Amino acid sequence: MELEVGSGKGLFLSTASAARPDHNFLGVEISGGYARLCGGKLATRHATNARIIHGDATFLARSLLPDACLAAIHVYFPDPWWKARHRKRRVLSDPFLVHAGRVLVQGGQLHVWTDVEEYFREALAAAEGTGLFASPREEEAPPAEHDLDYRTHFERRTCLAGQPVWRAALERNNAPAGCTRVEVALP
Ligand SMILES: C[S@@+](CC[C@H](N)C(=O)[O-])C[C@H]1O[C@@H](n2cnc3c(N)ncnc32)[C@H](O)[C@@H]1O
Repeated sequence: MELEVGSGKGLFLSTASAARPDHNFLGVEISGGYARLCGGKLATRHATNARIIHGDATFLARSLLPDACLAAIHVYFPDPWWKARHRKRRVLSDPFLVHAGRVLVQGGQLHVWTDVEEYFREALAAAEGTGLFASPREEEAPPAEHDLDYRTHFERRTCLAGQPVWRAALERNNAPAGCTRVEVALP
């Protein structure tokens, strides 16, 4: 299974699940409106290998997902939370990244794409700090030939505006995860 964090309008979940019917995809989206939009898109397509859940990705990674259950995690254009007092809301921070390392299989990939260079560099440094990932590999995006040739809605918007995008994939190494799942009782 592959996880997308912050699926927004659902372009990635929809196109990736159609292109790779032999893989299962799970999206997690904190906005109820976007989660419903995304679910509607998957339902219209009768996608049987993709699901979206409404909730917080850090909670999902920390408390619900078992060890080594994911082949990939996709984080595309995460909210930058510009104000200093909101920085702790950034999803690509230590609590998420240590559990991302725990839930990825060895050799699994963490994909990080963003239009915010400072967030990109900070996230890569935090991922390196976990000791759970190999050095980042730059990812190439194939040139888009039509409107749906972008990985996500935000990538399309950024590229069409002529803005740069930073893209990297980090491979889960073989170091043991230094954390365990935090069990919670769900209502
Ligand atoms: C800037 S949008 C990018 C949407 C999509 N990935 C794209 O590239 O078009 C960031 C998305 O992440 C969602 N999000 C923010 N924090 C989240 C969290 N902790 N867990 C799940 N989704 C989150 C937001 O609601 C929003 O839909």
